[in-house]
Amino acid sequence: TDKKDILALIKKAETTHELTKDEIVALLIDTEYEAEFFAAADRVRRMYVGDEVHLRGLIEFSNTCKQNCLYCGLRRDNKKVNRYRLGPETILDFATKAKSYGYRTVVLQSGEDEWFDVAAMVDIIKKIKELGLAITLSVGEKPREVYQAYRDAGADRYLLRIETTDKALYEKLDPGMSWDNRVKCLQDIKELGFELGTGSLVGIPGQTVESLADDVLFFKSMDADMIGVGPFIPNPDTPLAKEAGGTFELSTKVMAMTRLLLPDINIPATTAMESLNPQGRVLALQRGANVVMPNVTEGEYRQLYLLYPGKICINDTPAHCRSCITGKIQGIGRKVAETHGFRVKRA
Ligand code: SAM
Ligand code: SF4
Ligand code: FES
Repeated sequence: TDKKDILALIKKAETTHELTKDEIVALLIDTEYEAEFFAAADRVRRMYVGDEVHLRGLIEFSNTCKQNCLYCGLRRDNKKVNRYRLGPETILDFATKAKSYGYRTVVLQSGEDEWFDVAAMVDIIKKIKELGLAITLSVGEKPREVYQAYRDAGADRYLLRIETTDKALYEKLDPGMSWDNRVKCLQDIKELGFELGTGSLVGIPGQTVESLADDVLFFKSMDADMIGVGPFIPNPDTPLAKEAGGTFELSTKVMAMTRLLLPDINIPATTAMESLNPQGRVLALQRGANVVMPNVTEGEYRQLYLLYPGKICINDTPAHCRSCITGKIQGIGRKVAETHGFRVKRA
């Protein structure tokens, strides 16, 4: 592909928001016009979702997990993890504090921990909704009836990354899990009226750039409302300890491509990006992102929710993160949104 072709592809992506798989691959492997590519994603971000950045307060309420994903520090076979789960009162307390920091959404994230049965989750969801906050859940695969109960209790959004659209690779890295079931979960979540969030891990061993192109086309075919993309960061206490991991550059390229092809959705500047690059979230906000998810988990729990080494903010307080991230956002001429930040469909 010569220079003219790459610039024409960037223009096509920016103006039509449609590319073929081969065209996506050509842009993902190009290294010469990255600046032009990222600038186009930034323009599309500004045109469709504006300069406001939505902050979602993240509560990591349990690091206990029945699954065994090879890449993840919380996998059940990792005996080095001190497992914890927060009680409902503590979760509610952290949500109340999140509200006091001005966050309009809380994200409840955990391993797949069955101690939190449907009744427990429904109770927590209802109490948080009374605070006037939007709720995003990120608690893994559940039967449709369970998603229905969460939705009926008032949960607004659900995050479940597909991780990779390469089914064979997915089933190798997530032993005992089925790729088809994950897609079924995403369909159920969408049909039940949640805002649907999914996304990929960039740089898992065995992943190709073609499969990353498929990931972006998959996001579009699912009409996802939120896409979180981040680099895979090898964890020394997992079977993938010795693998190379994803790069900051490639993960932001996949993220920018997502902005170009799904122009009106919400896209976070992910924690894993900043864990690889000290300017990672600010750069991501300038390459298509419009959301940040500051941690509101308190005390020792932050250190214990260790998916990968080098995770940012593990020794900081929620109040510190709030002022830190506000400073970063304002430092690039953007502003913190005061709305709940639902997707406004424009595409
Ligand atoms: N258990 C739920 C699930 O898997 O959907 C939610 C929590 S899980 C820790 C959230 C995300 O962490 C996963 O979707 C995965 O993409 C990401 N993750 C896990 N291990 C990681 C690693 N080593 N590097 C980067 N991201 C990782
Ligand atoms: Fe459990 Fe999620 Fe980690 Fe997989 S990625 S081991 S489901 S916490
Ligand atoms: Fe946590 Fe900057 S956001 S220290």
